[in-house]
Amino acid sequence: MIKLRAQHSTIRQIKADAVVQFVAGDAKLFQRQVTALRKYFGKRIDHFVALEQFKAKEGEVLTMVTEKKINAPRLMLVGLGETKKLSLERYRRAAATAAKKARTLSLKHLAYEMPVPPADLPGFTPAVEDMAVAISEGAVLSLYKFDKYVTEKKEHKPKLKEITLFDPADAGVKEIKHAVSVARIICDSTCLARDLENAPGNEIYPETLADAAKRSAEEYGYNAKVWEKKRIEKEGFGGLLGVNAGSARPPRFIILEYNGGKKDLDTIVLVGKGITFDSGGISIKPPSSMAEMKMDMSGAAAVIGVMEAATRLRLDVHLVGLVPSTENMPGGSAMRPGDIVKHYGGKTTEVDNTDAEGRLILADALAYAAKFKPKVIIDLATLTGACVVALGSLASGMMGTDEDVMAKLKKAGEKTFDRVWQLPLFEDYEKHIKSDVADVKNVGGRWAGAITAALFLKKFVGDHKWVHLDIAGTAILEEDFPYAPKGGSGAGVRLLIEMLRTWK
Ligand code: BES
Ligand code: ZN
Ligand code: ZN
Repeated sequence: MIKLRAQHSTIRQIKADAVVQFVAGDAKLFQRQVTALRKYFGKRIDHFVALEQFKAKEGEVLTMVTEKKINAPRLMLVGLGETKKLSLERYRRAAATAAKKARTLSLKHLAYEMPVPPADLPGFTPAVEDMAVAISEGAVLSLYKFDKYVTEKKEHKPKLKEITLFDPADAGVKEIKHAVSVARIICDSTCLARDLENAPGNEIYPETLADAAKRSAEEYGYNAKVWEKKRIEKEGFGGLLGVNAGSARPPRFIILEYNGGKKDLDTIVLVGKGITFDSGGISIKPPSSMAEMKMDMSGAAAVIGVMEAATRLRLDVHLVGLVPSTENMPGGSAMRPGDIVKHYGGKTTEVDNTDAEGRLILADALAYAAKFKPKVIIDLATLTGACVVALGSLASGMMGTDEDVMAKLKKAGEKTFDRVWQLPLFEDYEKHIKSDVADVKNVGGRWAGAITAALFLKKFVGDHKWVHLDIAGTAILEEDFPYAPKGGSGAGVRLLIEMLRTWK
């Protein structure tokens, strides 16, 4: 695990393998910054920048040998691009660019100078804490790799072990130290979610997913209860049992709980889709899109990550995490298209397509969530390919009945860049999931698939306020993102932590 720390220091004094300075792309600011560096390097810095044609564009990085003019042997300048487009995300990505460069150079210790954003930028006046968290996230998350199964050709280069944020002004260091301790927790839980997502289906299945949740709960001190199949049968979770019917591995229902301790805290129930592998069942998927369905438990992974972070950050909320978990397999005893299942609470569903299984297991959990008398229920699920078609990988689809919480999520999403985009819950589309033989049907035809899936879920939340996040496109990345390699991204974790940190 990479060490993350903060200290008071100057560029000259800081001891590291490289010092990183963020550089604004605007010509005037750019020149001002280069001129300031003459103090250490004389005119050499101007020549070097000109020679390498470094313009501080977004994604640009320039590494220079410092020849003992400062303690660190290298100076790394990273571009922020156009000044008027500056944002926390720009700093997050620039920090990632520097960290990845440090990795290719086999550096062990990288030190970032805390940037001072231009004072005259309307609309961008970040708090020191937010800036430090963003830089830490960009650095730490960009270095994430899932390579524990690679035994051959593993590079034995030294790894980046330490990241330091330093500030030449003593005054801000306390705040940066606090920010770094928060970022540590945010990054840990994001990477926990990524590890669970990326783990193959023969490592993470319902029992081992539950074990992972229990391990986290035990380590950090929140509550975890796990129902085995018998209890799931007794409680009548017919959706979960139906989806599980074709699998050799038994299902689990995981109940996590954290209480901030104070009285009268708001209860928020998080529900995460925990399909540890989605073959589609009898309505089997084509092979080309099947392997990535080991990540169909990304909603569950996010819920576990958020529970852990909320506990470590001692957030002022009463948080409940519910995870229905099973594989979706086409065994001889599998659920058939046309079958009818009875959910917790008594509603029935006609199963038209066994590949629309997420909503079947969520239905039980959403109905069960009422027990906790929640202020709001928020579910996270890799629910529909339709949502990926609509929004791609840059925003999770958001639908629900709680406009307040959706506004909060929107704001948290913009800040963390773990973004959401609201889709309409048009009730007219409900007719598409009407069934002639049961209360509801589990598919709604070709069009507006993300919406009809959400309308299905809505039937089970009763009168409770509720928000659904379809993370199918954001949690499962098909290509690298600046600070997430392709694969499981941990989507939803940073989003929810940010919302919960600013809940009241
Ligand atoms: N897990 C999938 C959704 C999914 C698709 C997630 C692509 C990530 C990437 C879900 O269980 C599913 O198969 N949904 C079907 C629903 C359809 C049968 C109504 C889909 O979206 O095709
Ligand atoms: Zn499916
Ligand atoms: Zn699925």
